[in-house]
Amino acid sequence: MAVNTDMLVFFVNGKKVCLRNVEPETTLMAYLRRDLGLTGTKNGCDEGSCGACTVMVSAYNRDSGRIVHKALTSCMVPICTLHGLAVTTTEGIGSLATGLHPVQERIVKFHGTQCGFCTPGMVMSMYTLLRSNPNPTRKQVSDSLHGNICRCTGYRPIMDAFWTFSKETCCSPENGGCCQDTDLSCPQGNSAGCCRGQPAKLTDISSLSLYDPTQEPIFPPELQVEGLCENLVCFRGRRVTWYRPVTLSQALQIKSENPDAQIASGCTFLAQQLKTCVQEVIVIDISGLKELKSHEIKNGVLMLGAGLSMADLIDLSDHGDLAEVSLVQAVPKVLESWGSQLKNSATLGGHIMLRGARYDLMPLLVAGDCFALVASKADAERKIQLKEAFLRDSNPLKPCEILISVGVPCAQKFVQTFKVAKRKHQDLASLSAAFFLGISPSEKLKIDDAQITYGGNIPSLIVPVETTKFLAGRKVSEEMIGEAMLALQSELLPFEGKGLSKTQSLWAQGFLSKCLLELIAGNQQGDRVTTNEQPDIYKSCQIFEIDQEGTFSKLKAVGQPLTHSTGEEQATGEAVFIDDIPMTVGELYMYPVLSTQHHAKITGVDLSEALSMPGVHGYIDHKDVPGVNFVFAEYADEELLATDTVHHCGQIICGIVATDRDTAVSAAQCVKVTYEDLTPVILTIQEAIEAKSFLGLPWRVTRGNLEAGFAQSDEVLEGELSTKGQKHIYLETLGALSVPRERDQIEVYTGTQLCHTLQIAVAEVLGVPAHNVVVKVKRIGGGFGGKESRSLLPSMITALAARKFRRPVRCIFNRKDDTLINGGRHPSLARYKVGFTKEGKIIALQTMLYTNGGITKETSNSVIKLAVIRGESCYNIPNVLVEGRVCRTNHSSHASLRGFGCPQMLWIVENILTAVATHLSLQPHKVRELQLYKEGETTITNCFLENFKLPKCWEECKSLADFDKRSQLVKEFNSTNKQRKRGLAIQPMMFGIGIYDKFLNQAGALVHIYTDGSVLVTHGGCEMGQGLHTKIKQIASDTLGISFDKVLVSETCTNMVPNATATVASVSTELNGRAVHAACITLVERLRPFREADPQAGWEKWVSAAYFSRVSLSTTGFVSYGDFGFDFDTCKGPDCMYLTCGVGCSEVEVDCLTGEHKLVRTDIVMDVGRSINPAVDIGQIEGGFVQGYGYYMMEEVVHSPEGKLLTDSPLTYKIPLAADIPAQFNVALLKNNLNDKGIYSSKGIGEPPLLLALSVYLATHDAVKSARVERGLSEVFYLEHPSIPANVLKALN
Ligand SMILES: Cc1cc2nc3c(=O)[nH]c(=O)nc-3n(C[C@H](O)[C@H](O)[C@H](O)COP(=O)(O)OP(=O)(O)OC[C@H]3O[C@@H](n4cnc5c(N)ncnc54)[C@H](O)[C@@H]3O)c2cc1C
Ligand code: FES
Ligand code: FES
Repeated sequence: MAVNTDMLVFFVNGKKVCLRNVEPETTLMAYLRRDLGLTGTKNGCDEGSCGACTVMVSAYNRDSGRIVHKALTSCMVPICTLHGLAVTTTEGIGSLATGLHPVQERIVKFHGTQCGFCTPGMVMSMYTLLRSNPNPTRKQVSDSLHGNICRCTGYRPIMDAFWTFSKETCCSPENGGCCQDTDLSCPQGNSAGCCRGQPAKLTDISSLSLYDPTQEPIFPPELQVEGLCENLVCFRGRRVTWYRPVTLSQALQIKSENPDAQIASGCTFLAQQLKTCVQEVIVIDISGLKELKSHEIKNGVLMLGAGLSMADLIDLSDHGDLAEVSLVQAVPKVLESWGSQLKNSATLGGHIMLRGARYDLMPLLVAGDCFALVASKADAERKIQLKEAFLRDSNPLKPCEILISVGVPCAQKFVQTFKVAKRKHQDLASLSAAFFLGISPSEKLKIDDAQITYGGNIPSLIVPVETTKFLAGRKVSEEMIGEAMLALQSELLPFEGKGLSKTQSLWAQGFLSKCLLELIAGNQQGDRVTTNEQPDIYKSCQIFEIDQEGTFSKLKAVGQPLTHSTGEEQATGEAVFIDDIPMTVGELYMYPVLSTQHHAKITGVDLSEALSMPGVHGYIDHKDVPGVNFVFAEYADEELLATDTVHHCGQIICGIVATDRDTAVSAAQCVKVTYEDLTPVILTIQEAIEAKSFLGLPWRVTRGNLEAGFAQSDEVLEGELSTKGQKHIYLETLGALSVPRERDQIEVYTGTQLCHTLQIAVAEVLGVPAHNVVVKVKRIGGGFGGKESRSLLPSMITALAARKFRRPVRCIFNRKDDTLINGGRHPSLARYKVGFTKEGKIIALQTMLYTNGGITKETSNSVIKLAVIRGESCYNIPNVLVEGRVCRTNHSSHASLRGFGCPQMLWIVENILTAVATHLSLQPHKVRELQLYKEGETTITNCFLENFKLPKCWEECKSLADFDKRSQLVKEFNSTNKQRKRGLAIQPMMFGIGIYDKFLNQAGALVHIYTDGSVLVTHGGCEMGQGLHTKIKQIASDTLGISFDKVLVSETCTNMVPNATATVASVSTELNGRAVHAACITLVERLRPFREADPQAGWEKWVSAAYFSRVSLSTTGFVSYGDFGFDFDTCKGPDCMYLTCGVGCSEVEVDCLTGEHKLVRTDIVMDVGRSINPAVDIGQIEGGFVQGYGYYMMEEVVHSPEGKLLTDSPLTYKIPLAADIPAQFNVALLKNNLNDKGIYSSKGIGEPPLLLALSVYLATHDAVKSARVERGLSEVFYLEHPSIPANVLKALN
């Protein structure tokens, strides 16, 4: 077949794509979304770090005759690399019309979708694994998900869904059904981890379709025909010229003619560079060169082709002929932590050519004495020793050279590798190491020779030559290890402070010690020291009851674990998010220009270059604001578009409007803003306190007599504690589409939790009445509070541009800007004084809490008010004074984030209790138990505790977790293990439901019944994954007495339900559910005469009869909920309608040499009243817990000394992955539990479970204490927040 050389040919979902004029830098993700409208492939980061854009790319291997399938992140795949390949997206495997694929069906039916933004990516990772391996192990399933993040679900339901494809899972259709219904034996045992014996289950296994690999679509036969990929092709774009040679000599020829050409190998680095580079670039794509993908042993050296992917390298470790090459055998461990997409694309050559100390294979290759073989057209191949050349800054390759292979000496050594990072998977190393020890064949444990290399977040690799000399010739013993560590310590001393921190130096010593201990331990059981490994088998159980007939019944829907109401749309990619709305004719794209300074006068804004770019349509700035130029007119403290001064990095100065996104983004980058720095620049809480820079007055809650309390106390302690921030990392970034309508009317499509506030804000900025503005929210790709105040920005600026240009305007913030603009959780600082008796009873507590509010008030005062309200957590302290004050700093405004001030305050209170327990040498849980509120008592906010379930949760959690027995086991473990210590902690929490600002506790709804009996419900709450619409559907169908499927919940829109309270504070089902219930009751009453006239006729007939009798089938519902509200002046409450309570118990294992931990087990008992939907509630508990785990243990917001945000995307800011969840994760809902103050006797649940992740921090504290006590150190220590390995190591001292 003759193929035109510059026609790019590939297949998408079985359809052929031929492109003649292609821009080579275009990524597959952009092409799928923009050109093919396949918006199921989501953009969560556009840098390869979230997995939302995962697709399957398949190739035909002519040599083996096999089709190879790979999961790839399409945002890192330049489109030209697809020549001759086939792409499959979630739309290609199943749809609502044709039926869901079993992978899509299972993630839905196991409740693995919440906001649904990550879902197609998850589906495609799993689907690709099944296409390559229809019978995966559970570990292979888990490993396939390391490159996919989910911020909502806590991963457990996703893993459970996908584990059913493994033979090792007991309950799956392929394995014979569910062992609760059959006599199947359960490989996981009959206790936790198996549904047998449990009263109810979340998924009906019998309803799942069988997976049949023979039914998969075939690989396009046209791509198997010889000819298409056998020739050199070249694709010329405006900026990038892309050569795709098919032989090495062609590649070397092109390189000799274009010495500046970039080499494209796996493109995981290059794709990102091409997106942003503005110069003309020539690229030589070597991914099709067979010569670079082979391996062979020559003269005792294994030559590995530079084009081998990391996945290929892992596979090589199974090759029999390489069993003796120690380095190859060590590779799988080094790469174990990588996501499958990254392993599939990144190549050995690309990895080495990045020449960074942080890249994982570098220490191994350098310690293994490897060399690079490079070739050019003109000269003979030459060897470059990695150790010598790749430790320097400059590129050791000449311009015409290409790295073709890597030489690995086939030595048999004792090899150990280590890596410590903030997150175990898919994270660059804080410190890594490789050890190659030649062991004497004649003398046991004697080292003949040693090679050590350290890498990680250090300027360049470190090779401690003196230490290796010390080791050579010595026999390993405990005494020798101590001496070796001292030798290393003194060798590393000169590096300390020069790129190597004290902590890194300690890790380096820890690694050495671990390596030598491993050598001693061999393969024996006992005190193994490596903690990186995660268990292959996770266990979980979900305990709840269904108090109605017929599980999964859609007729009596309330109480049933029904799946997310649009889960199927999410899994098939049909769910529409803002950026998925098809473009309309004439639509423009806007991108904002953001301040790069913290506090400065704007001396000039030069738009000339930007405006001269082809495709640029114009701009908006403060002069285009016809109304009020403030984000919140009420506070008037942040200009929407800066006039002459900027007050924080990320403040919007102006916006460039263009015909498409890429042009708008590039043009915005060309705007030159000049500044004159202003003072003061206040960045920290301490600086703000000193400068008296605050946002409002202090908030105070008090009870009793503090002075008398301290006087009565036997002991008094004082201290200072602080927490860092947290970023939201919802997967859908902020965005909006504003469409101008007649006479200054405007429609805004966006993802906000604040529809009404946004409507008012847009009206104010446009200077029009609110009825001119309609805000519509279909769904939000994750909110967690982050789509509150800051979500106004894209809507307001697009509305301004739409008004100015009278065209629809869209703006979606890119991930880095989104993370910068949205400040996230407030960092905090607390000073406390606590008085207590010898028995541990706290008599008096005084806490002064400061939070870093950033630049504006926004929600900061509301957040700190709730923190102050929960200032005693759930402990009855007779004399209390809790004060809170918000500091004004030059950061983006800090915002609401799940828990709303409580996560900080509870961390502080629990630390205070721990300090009291330590001081008195009491067990912390006993001290907690002593103070725990009881039925009939009253909180500091005058909440009278009746029907109070916390004590019951406490007892049930202790029993579920087998707390007493396991405390003993932990002690035993710690007495027999030196390097690893376990810790166990149980922690209670209560969270007020109902907003303390009384007026906000109102809601409206609109319910229509159509003549065919179908029902449309609109209410004021927004669906962001929390299952609100699902619960509302359940409530409406139950109240009307019809099937769940007859009800549709409409998008949220301000023209249907006005003045809606924001979707916040875990109260949305309570408020909106009541309003919907009220409307439905009205309709039930209207239909009553028809029902009574013909009871057997059925719903449709009653509806029809009512219609023909001219009875209105549409009505509104309204609720003003609860008689409560807290007055800070008089300290009179109560602050909430009722309390949601829960208790969490966690066990961790800490590696005392590195500070890493493993989350061994978590048990949670939660009081959710009578659950409206146990699957949704358990999903909120698990998801909230894992988000809280990230906050307390993993996620670190880092700024440079100058205040620049360094952790601005999932690449640098690490949120938990599937591999981080508890190895055993049990969640129980309190049984026989009614809440007479809640809708359908239920309770609000969204935020409270996050607080239970504090139990992991407390367990880590417990483990560190054991280690310190054993070494004779003080029991008093400070474990900093977040407890990343570096902070744990510091606490271990
Ligand atoms: C989301 C994400 C997470 C990551 N996490 C980790 C991690 O946890 N640990 C880790 O170690 N790394 C990590 N990385 C980095 C990763 O290791 C590198 O991006 C990858 O190894 C580069 O290989 P590549 O084949 O994709 O290189 P490419 O992007 O194709 O090329 C990289 C550079 O090398 C040049 N080059 C490539 N091949 C050759 C050759 N044969 N001859 C001459 N020059 C060549 C290219 O011109 C380019 O300049 C991560 C990257 C991403 C995107
Ligand atoms: S969008 Fe591609 S990995 Fe995030
Ligand atoms: S459901 Fe996974 S990110 Fe929302």
